[in-house]
Amino acid sequence: MQQLYLIIGSILACHVSYLFIRRRIRVRSLPPKFWTWDPIMNFDWIIPTVMDARKQLTYLEKYGDTYRLPKLTNPMTTIVTRNPENVHAINTGKEWGIEFRKPGMGEMLGMGFLCADDAEWMRSRKMLRPAFNRPNIDNFEVLEGVADGLVRKIEEADGKVEMGALLYDALMHSSMHFILGIDSTKKNDGRPMDAQTFNKLWQEGVLGMGIRLLFGRSVSRLLLPSARYTYVCNQLHSFIDFAIERQEKHLPSDRKTSPMAEIVTPQAKDRADARAQLMQTMLASQDTTGVLTCNAIQLLSSRPDIWAQLRAEVSAAGAELFTWERLRANPTIQNILSETLRLRPVFPQFGRLALRDTVLPSGGGPSHDQPFPIPKGTFAITSTWGIHLSKEIYGPDADEWKPERWDSVKPSSKEFAAFGQGPRACLGKDKALAEAAYLLMRLVKRFEGVGDVTREWKPDSTFSMKNSKGYKVAFKI
Ligand code: HEM
Repeated sequence: MQQLYLIIGSILACHVSYLFIRRRIRVRSLPPKFWTWDPIMNFDWIIPTVMDARKQLTYLEKYGDTYRLPKLTNPMTTIVTRNPENVHAINTGKEWGIEFRKPGMGEMLGMGFLCADDAEWMRSRKMLRPAFNRPNIDNFEVLEGVADGLVRKIEEADGKVEMGALLYDALMHSSMHFILGIDSTKKNDGRPMDAQTFNKLWQEGVLGMGIRLLFGRSVSRLLLPSARYTYVCNQLHSFIDFAIERQEKHLPSDRKTSPMAEIVTPQAKDRADARAQLMQTMLASQDTTGVLTCNAIQLLSSRPDIWAQLRAEVSAAGAELFTWERLRANPTIQNILSETLRLRPVFPQFGRLALRDTVLPSGGGPSHDQPFPIPKGTFAITSTWGIHLSKEIYGPDADEWKPERWDSVKPSSKEFAAFGQGPRACLGKDKALAEAAYLLMRLVKRFEGVGDVTREWKPDSTFSMKNSKGYKVAFKI
């Protein structure tokens, strides 16, 4: 009997040693490890990188182009990478998905394209795409009113404004037109609340949703009362439903071209489906074009020569410059937007989940430049920002804002990904660039330059990456 115990004991010891050695060998061939104090949730990685987005770069510098976050039972639960080949493989591969967002996003935004994979995502994208047609994007009528209002508010404030807040409101007005077909300035047309109330609730909802996405639903319930969150979501739904009902009853919208609600409603499976697609587009368009425009103004303040050049171009071209064709063909404004998105991408990083076992091209092996296996269930964070600051791609001055670099540098789609890559790339790219170019040129046309601005740059990335110190600007009238 004693002998039997001895044999069983030896077999068990051998097996444990085998597992241990196998794990050591596997771990050695994996990318470098982030030293975490919290091997359960990795909050010591999550919180710093959200609160101060620059930490994302600090960790990439410290651990290398590709590193892993370990947890107690798993040496690699998450991969963080700025290697362009890895990022491209993750953004374009069918083995990576985003459905994991459903529990965090679902209550507020429903089950639209931002949390769908495979056939469901394809169906949603097909439904939305026609709304981004040329007449819809070329139509600057609403934007003209938005720009007039902006200029007026800046003049009334003697040039000194908080640009972030002004642009947020202005672009919400434009989104409501484009997506819902609703004129935010109108009242008493049966809408359940005015646009200002909707805006406030929207921001509260996005905060609650962000916390749910980061920490999961159960932890979030402890941080935020869920009854209030449910109330906010229901209120927001009632507003979107008002826009959908107008389409269902074929009531005329406040827009000359077709708003997205008119295009999506007849194709949707039901009201909840239409609402989800519209709300998710509202999210995709909020705090994106506005952040880009604010960053461009802040960065332009250090280059009065470029502001002067733009002013000369506006005065030479006159009103004709204010069409999408002309703005798109204007290298000065396009270089400004590209350089701003390179140095300060609106979305500095993205998350994807491995839906099946796969391989990434670089980061493994003894010198961390070999392919390495990714088991199903591994989470990947792709750092667009990390790629955009590569000195090999953009030159030794990659940390500086120099729009003129775009005259000579022509990065590939793996090297510049401000609007994403592959099949999920941004549908609103042309619209966002058209709006930002138009608004900037209108400001340039009216104001002689930018004086004082908030100089400090401390970005958070709760949703888009924006300056937590704000965007105070003093325009020279
Ligand atoms: C400067 C402004 C913007 C930037 C930098 C930007 C960036 C991005 C990026 C990086 C993605 C890819 C997300 C991923 O890979 O998971 C994306 C997707 C998307 N964006 Fe934008 N975006 C901007 C403005 C807009 C606007 C104004 C709209 C709509 C009016 C819009 C609509 C969309 C849609 C519908 C998708 C989802 C595509 C899909 O999942 O198939 N975006 N955007």
